[in-house]
Amino acid sequence: MLALALLAASLASAARAQDRPHVDADPVPGRAELVDIGRLIFQDRTLSNPTGQSCSSCHAPETGFRFPDSRVNREFGVATGAIPTRVTNRSAPTIAYAKFIPEGPPYAHFDASGRMGGRRNLGSELIFIGGMFWDGRANTLEHQATFPFQNPNEMNDLVHGVGSPELVVRKVRASRYADRFRAVFGDDAFRRPTEDVFADICGAIAAYERSPEVSPFSSKYDAFVRGDVRLSPEEMDGLRLATGTWEGKTIGTPYAKNAQCILCHGIEDDPKAGPSLWTFFCYANIGVPRNAANPFYRQTDAVSIPQGYNPDGEAFVDLGLGGYLYPVNGLPPGNRGAGSNGAGDFLAINGTFKAPTLRNVDQRPHPDFVKAYMHNGVFKSLKEIVHFYNTRNLTTVPGEVIDFNRDDPYARLRGTPLWPRPEYPFPSSILNPAGDTAEMGGQVGNLGLTDEEEDHIVAFLKTLTDGYAPGAR
Ligand code: HEC
Ligand code: HEC
Repeated sequence: MLALALLAASLASAARAQDRPHVDADPVPGRAELVDIGRLIFQDRTLSNPTGQSCSSCHAPETGFRFPDSRVNREFGVATGAIPTRVTNRSAPTIAYAKFIPEGPPYAHFDASGRMGGRRNLGSELIFIGGMFWDGRANTLEHQATFPFQNPNEMNDLVHGVGSPELVVRKVRASRYADRFRAVFGDDAFRRPTEDVFADICGAIAAYERSPEVSPFSSKYDAFVRGDVRLSPEEMDGLRLATGTWEGKTIGTPYAKNAQCILCHGIEDDPKAGPSLWTFFCYANIGVPRNAANPFYRQTDAVSIPQGYNPDGEAFVDLGLGGYLYPVNGLPPGNRGAGSNGAGDFLAINGTFKAPTLRNVDQRPHPDFVKAYMHNGVFKSLKEIVHFYNTRNLTTVPGEVIDFNRDDPYARLRGTPLWPRPEYPFPSSILNPAGDTAEMGGQVGNLGLTDEEEDHIVAFLKTLTDGYAPGAR
């Protein structure tokens, strides 16, 4: 318990060294106009090719800035592009609170507790943090904003198969807000080199994404932390289970059970450090199953989408951070196969993804609206997710535990596994491979929660939705 608290504290200070939350409005002159331009660009459906898709088509405020089509979320779990027969390989994460993501590339922290999953290689001492996207491959919001335009499976602004900032610039110049763009960036705004104008377009988007409108800290939980409202008994139990303390903080009187959520979805004990973000933006392989319904598995036609097809077909495995960080260091994706240094997944990053903020995880336009969760959209409800964390390593036979350290974890099981095989089930990176119980310090997989306790964690997660109006709920 002490070791876990130390880890949480060291991650918290690592995250704190970066941009910390400050809720006040930005006083920089002209800032409001820049944010307005950024919002107009973010919502502009003429900027895709063909027209019809904006950033907000995939990151809509009413769904906590995630994908706003319930049917697509339920059936696919990933996003459809400007060309509607194409899909992204991953689900669209929220852009809310993304301004607090530490700048990429993801960098390693020494894990003094040595407890993260009990791994036995170099990776056991490293925790990677930061960067945009599920795999951290963009450094800043400005950098990130350059990608969706030029992605053939997203806004598809390509000419002869090559991303074309020029196409985007031309459309902004022809937009109904072009004069306002000139008012902010100068009369000659559109006469400058294309890359400069494109950089300003992306800069304006980033300014909007950094505005308090996108990250308002206006949830019931925030009101609770300020002392303005009480949580219901169910919500309070959920907070205590998620944190493992009576106080609902990282350090306090141990609660009856500890689901250990805040080890990755980190919070701040001291309000002076800023409001809790409910993530450290750290990477982990929690054993999420493959999403067999993801149409990307069948998006294999190199001729029609040379830049966005899936060369591996059904064999595609999303290596997450391992698919990005090894290649930028001159090794093949996952450090596997030809060109690898033979050390395997020595950084323990294959199949790891950035832990998203839990803020607005339940935000939806109406109760029946389905959201898709995790990097591949495989999960469709918060109850399903909490049950997964609770029972990932279990089977239908009580007491039987699946051990991912074994060559074939599924051999000689007496019961049926409760969950499909993880997308990346290997002990080099998967957290708590042996399925240790929470009392033994195991995170994820065998938490010993009752059905009711799972419900209470879900009830608590719902208090993280922005726009709470006391009395209204
Ligand atoms: C077709 C749907 C789609 C469109 C359009 C789209 N996005 Fe995304 N967005 C995604 C997906 C999918 C990801 C995750 C991709 C990945 O991790 O590889 C993502 C990731 C992001 C992230 C990273 C968040 C994080 O937690 O790291 C940001 C920020 C973002 N998008 C902003 C934008 C902006 C700005 C635009 C418009 C210029 C845009 N998106 C357009 C689907 C979309
Ligand atoms: C070891 C780190 C870790 C722990 C502990 C952890 N999570 Fe996560 N969580 C993650 C990562 C990483 C992801 C994304 C995984 C992926 O997409 O493959 C995630 C995703 C989620 C999501 C989906 C969010 C979205 O926007 O798609 C929810 C909800 C969630 N976690 C809730 C919880 C709860 C509740 C607990 C405690 C029972 C918990 N987590 C414990 C790391 C962790």
